[in-house]
Amino acid sequence: MLNLLSCRRLPFVNKCVAVWRRWVVATLVPVGVVAGFLLGHTSFVYSNSSLDQSQAFNDAAADPPNQGRHVSECNLNIPTISTSELPEFLIAESDFCTRRGNLTMVAYIHSHISGVEKRQETRATWASRWAENLGVRLAAVFMVGRARTHREKEIVERESRLYGDIVQGNYTDTYYTLSLKALMALEWVQQHCSHVPWVLHADDDVLIDTVSYSKFLNARGSSNRLFCHAWKSSLVRRTGKWCVEKYEFPGKKYPPYCAGGAWVVANKGVPRLLKAATHAPPLWVDDVYVTGILARKAGLRHSWALSAHFRMTGIEEQDLGKTMVWFNVTETRTEWWRKLVKHHGLTLPHLPPPPSS
Ligand SMILES: *[C@@H]1O[C@H](CO)[C@@H](O)[C@H](O)[C@H]1NC(C)=O
Ligand SMILES: *[C@@H]1O[C@H](CO)[C@@H](O)[C@H](O)[C@H]1NC(C)=O
Ligand SMILES: *[C@@H]1O[C@H](CO)[C@@H](O)[C@H](O)[C@H]1NC(C)=O
Repeated sequence: MLNLLSCRRLPFVNKCVAVWRRWVVATLVPVGVVAGFLLGHTSFVYSNSSLDQSQAFNDAAADPPNQGRHVSECNLNIPTISTSELPEFLIAESDFCTRRGNLTMVAYIHSHISGVEKRQETRATWASRWAENLGVRLAAVFMVGRARTHREKEIVERESRLYGDIVQGNYTDTYYTLSLKALMALEWVQQHCSHVPWVLHADDDVLIDTVSYSKFLNARGSSNRLFCHAWKSSLVRRTGKWCVEKYEFPGKKYPPYCAGGAWVVANKGVPRLLKAATHAPPLWVDDVYVTGILARKAGLRHSWALSAHFRMTGIEEQDLGKTMVWFNVTETRTEWWRKLVKHHGLTLPHLPPPPSS
């Protein structure tokens, strides 16, 4: 018996076409307009099995026939990514989470090999090895792709040896492979850190008040939600830097998703996100893909509790104790981290700074 649910996976089966059509006619929009349109354009609508079907239908109904169908407008050089077969890990740090006993949070940071200074500053601030002395049982790894030059190879080997916090995957690091990086990070967490209650995704230029964030999460217990600054009803861009083509995502609006700089999920959500990825073709915009499309498929919702605690630009004294995440504060992190620790009435241990390059 075919129903709507089973047809989500079988969009090309003829009987499913009928099921879908019945559903549209009955529920979506005035009969004449949409049914007539769909009869003529089934191939477009039904080929987009990856996303929320109602969005595909809405979009199809709103666009005049033949407009924007598979026309390449973005001109971005986006490589084809397979989500069913992830690349290998070149450096796995497989005992990272067991080595650092009693963790409550594992953080993975989207890095790239040449981002040496950002890694140093991250290590010296919120992801510091001494965070435990501040009551935060967190450890952070940096996710990088394969080395492209001899120099990059040296950087990776050196930092991996010194800090043991580099996880390297066999893929080319580009702006357009971030979704792959994100999936590899989740895969790594699933394989090696599944006992750690919370997973934090972070970019390499953010400052996180890990003291407040940890307190907030520990007070919550486990959850089916993503804790982040969530965007709702974001329009899909068809031009410019965030350009996404219609065959990649035909809807007009994305599902709710997290601002990519920092978000947290309970570890039990990780296998669900990975499973969702096996039947959702990748979208290169990684925050939309992982925390929007995959989260929706995985049944993970967004908590709005932290929305007011994220700052997208700038940082000020009066934020301390209120803001938990600052985006884009690369150069001033060390200075602000000291102020933040002091604000919490804590003191940084007098240990030598991590060796620099
Ligand atoms: C983990 O916590 C337990 C109990 O709080 C403690 O006995 C143990 O030493 C801790 N282990 C590490 C590696 O910190
Ligand atoms: C990494 O990927 C490249 C290209 O796909 C492949 O030729 C190479 O053998 C891989 N290396 C390892 C160590 O898996
Ligand atoms: C980040 O900050 C720099 C200056 O500190 C600014 O030029 C840039 O536009 C900011 N980026 C975003 C995304 O806000």
